[in-house]
Amino acid sequence: MKLLEGKTVAMTGGGGGLGRCYGVAMAKAGAAIAVSDINLAAAQATVDAITSAGGRAIAVQGDVTRAAAFEALFDRAEAEYGPLDVLLNIAGMFPRRALVEMSEEEWDAVIALNLKSVFLGARAAIRRMLPRKRGVVLSTASGTGIRGQPKGSAYSASKAGIIGFTRAVSLELKDTGVRINCFGPGATDTPLWRIGKSEEDIKRLLAAGYVYQPDEFSNVVVYLASDLSAPLNGEFISRDLHR
Ligand SMILES: NC(=O)c1ccc[n+]([C@@H]2O[C@H](COP(=O)([O-])OP(=O)(O)OC[C@H]3O[C@@H](n4cnc5c(N)ncnc54)[C@H](O)[C@@H]3O)[C@@H](O)[C@H]2O)c1
Repeated sequence: MKLLEGKTVAMTGGGGGLGRCYGVAMAKAGAAIAVSDINLAAAQATVDAITSAGGRAIAVQGDVTRAAAFEALFDRAEAEYGPLDVLLNIAGMFPRRALVEMSEEEWDAVIALNLKSVFLGARAAIRRMLPRKRGVVLSTASGTGIRGQPKGSAYSASKAGIIGFTRAVSLELKDTGVRINCFGPGATDTPLWRIGKSEEDIKRLLAAGYVYQPDEFSNVVVYLASDLSAPLNGEFISRDLHR
């Protein structure tokens, strides 16, 4: 029996570097996946990667800073594959800007995408999961939320916010059969990680071993989405090369 056999998963930011790897890994573990992204072509490329690996997936376009995107995503996922078992929040941005240069608009955009979307997604998913007494919400936080990073004040605040949000909601979910956790995959070579870095910096950091490849954390995500991780609720599971 595969770890995620029969599970319906909805994933935001599924067209990105981590989303593609996590999607393929979860599909190989038996899940059927609704892949959401604001960039439909990117979501479709993830669907193609999943189906090439023998899995089942559909692409859904949506802006996850809007509550309506989650209702549309979950309606599609449930119509296609049955009741939602797992929400995986991945969509995020990291503009890399010094505090003194950051505009109010940019701060709001980071918080809306990285943190508000987690609130909107978790609220919509948990409303569906509670009556069924089962379900998992997983969100992509970051070690940066704990240790901070230069030119990352809004990002670090949003990721720390996800950790606090997850812990608070887990207390509301005690003994309900529904659980919520978040994770930090460590610095990983994706388009998001490359933003604001010179080619020289990228080469230096890759050579120094300060960055992971996108697929390296996939099986941790599969585990967290599966019933094997049932004792975990409210946790932040992370690895961090900077520690
Ligand atoms: N790559 C890293 O080093 C790293 C480390 C720790 C945490 N993370 C987190 O992992 C997550 C994914 O990162 P990634 O490296 O795969 O990034 P990525 O840039 O490759 O993917 C992000 C995806 O989010 C999508 N997106 C952007 N705005 C959206 C919106 N409004 N609605 C829906 N989708 C939207 C993008 O189209 C993109 O496909 C982020 O939350 C990031 O903060 C990344």
